[in-house]
Amino acid sequence: MEILGIDIGGSGIKGAPVNTETGQVLAERYRLKTPAGAEPGPVTETIAQIARHFAWSGPIGVGFPGPIKQGIVKMAANISTAWVGLNAAEQIHQATGCSVTVINDADAAGLAEMAFGAGKNVKGVVIMVTLGTGIGTAIFIDGKLLPNAEFGHLEIRGHEAEARASDAARQREELSWKKYAKRLNRYFQTMEKLFWPDLFILGGGISKYHEKYLPLIKTETQIVPAQFLNEAGIVGAALAAYRE
Ligand code: BGC
Repeated sequence: MEILGIDIGGSGIKGAPVNTETGQVLAERYRLKTPAGAEPGPVTETIAQIARHFAWSGPIGVGFPGPIKQGIVKMAANISTAWVGLNAAEQIHQATGCSVTVINDADAAGLAEMAFGAGKNVKGVVIMVTLGTGIGTAIFIDGKLLPNAEFGHLEIRGHEAEARASDAARQREELSWKKYAKRLNRYFQTMEKLFWPDLFILGGGISKYHEKYLPLIKTETQIVPAQFLNEAGIVGAALAAYRE
């Protein structure tokens, strides 16, 4: 089935039609800037623009940077707090006329990797960690998702993890890869001690530079880069809509 996958990120909102049987992205992805403040109205309008770009009338899956229950936003860390309590799925449906499924962005990325990428056929506990404006986490047990895990907000040595170890923190503080790797090392070691997973998958835009920092992260658990790089969110959002 063809579903339009959309990923709402801190700097860009991206979309492309996806073949949900193969995980293939069927057209060049279309990216628009995330409106300043990421308020519900402008973000919804940007999503509608992406749907219009593809002349879309079919189902849409949206990866959202916050926990989502039955379409409703429960928390907003890196977007406007005006989203909290809103039915994002309903709002986007109103703007596009399409049927809409909304899922947490890290959960979406994890679904894509488990179905077609680095987590394919991996049994046991797999944790996907996405590094971007925030830190997103998705936990799988034998391929099944535990939704809305929010371990980017884990407090480590008195700091919220995403304030120190997100890609945004690296850029803001102009950290060298070595310094950044030290922070990631602390993050992954803490996660390892809490979950003892069988595999970590590292995603987000900076997963494509993994040679620069992955070798410096010392965990017993294997860490592999996401295979979809930053298209995982789009593919997984489409998958979530397909499976609903
Ligand atoms: C949000 C998560 C999201 C992550 C990545 C965090 O701040 O709380 O829901 O998955 O950022 O966007």
